[in-house]
Amino acid sequence: MVVLGIETSCDETGIALYDTSAGILAHNLHSQIKTHQQFGGVVPELASRDHLRHLVPLLRQTLQDAGMEQDGIDAVAWTAGPGLAGALLTGATFGKTLAVSLGIPGIAVHHLEAHILAAMLDNPSLAFPFTVLLVSGGHTQLLQAKAFGKYELLGDTLDDAVGEAFDKTAKLMGMPYPGGPEIAALADRTPVSNLPPFPRPMITREGLDFSFSGLKTHVLHVWQKSAMDDAMRAAIAREFQDAVVETLTARCKKALIASRSARLVVAGGVGANRALRASLAQVLQEQGGEVFFPRIEYCTDNGAMVAFAGALRIAHGMMETDLAINVRPRWPLDEL
Ligand code: KG4
Ligand code: ZN
Repeated sequence: MVVLGIETSCDETGIALYDTSAGILAHNLHSQIKTHQQFGGVVPELASRDHLRHLVPLLRQTLQDAGMEQDGIDAVAWTAGPGLAGALLTGATFGKTLAVSLGIPGIAVHHLEAHILAAMLDNPSLAFPFTVLLVSGGHTQLLQAKAFGKYELLGDTLDDAVGEAFDKTAKLMGMPYPGGPEIAALADRTPVSNLPPFPRPMITREGLDFSFSGLKTHVLHVWQKSAMDDAMRAAIAREFQDAVVETLTARCKKALIASRSARLVVAGGVGANRALRASLAQVLQEQGGEVFFPRIEYCTDNGAMVAFAGALRIAHGMMETDLAINVRPRWPLDEL
């Protein structure tokens, strides 16, 4: 069975074709970074319009890359939430209309579940239950994935998401949006800094929640009292990344112990961070457990994870049956 996946929840248009026996046949992404960069962040209305412009050409391109015609598609999956309302509506309307007009099943997919399941695309041995560190532009959560569709929230951020903290840190130092990859690249090129270590937020606090606003304020103070030059940008990037990686690693260790789990899945855009991947790989190796990451291109938003999540939903008999087009901009994962 071939499932078409459509991702339009934020600032990337993603289209993919997933074959339940052959895997991903083709996938394409259009990033809107250039559209939003001049505004320093995503402008929702521009995002929706840009998705509209790219959905059809991307579908055509993806069918061509897979050497397929439209009638070879057996089901359509789209991201129905969480995300920007207008952006979600473009993909949901396109997806559902296509499914109805082709007379094939349509599946509404939860964006965060798709991020989590993306780790299975390259790791077919990964089986439930497992612990999840979900780190994206909008979320920083620890979850226990008990079974397909059953995700229990263990810890959440009390303020900024970690990707957001990366982006804001970059912005206040005059670096372009999105700042995560920029800060990470700069940090990786900076072997040491002579700054005193930054705070490790909540590391000793009870429970499994996160908080990154204090770290952000610390960065602001250090930056404003400095020469605000390239050397300071590099030193801050390094110290900031070290603080974030150590905090996330300590919280993951605690979550694994609390849930008696030996398997950790890292999901979401910040999962592309190489220092974080290395740190978690080391911890899981020391503990005799296993860590699973999606490949880098499937960490940030993409259509492949949506097609794959849709295929698993079909396998579990969870298709859309009505003709209404519904999106849920706010949609907690434990309400699936
Ligand atoms: O999952 P994602 O593509 O979109 C959301 O659903 O939010 O995550 C995007 C976030 C952005 O905040 C971006 O700066 C961050 O992931 N990000 C990174 C890296 N690559 C992307 N943060 C740190 N290091 C990276 N290498
Ligand atoms: Zn995402």
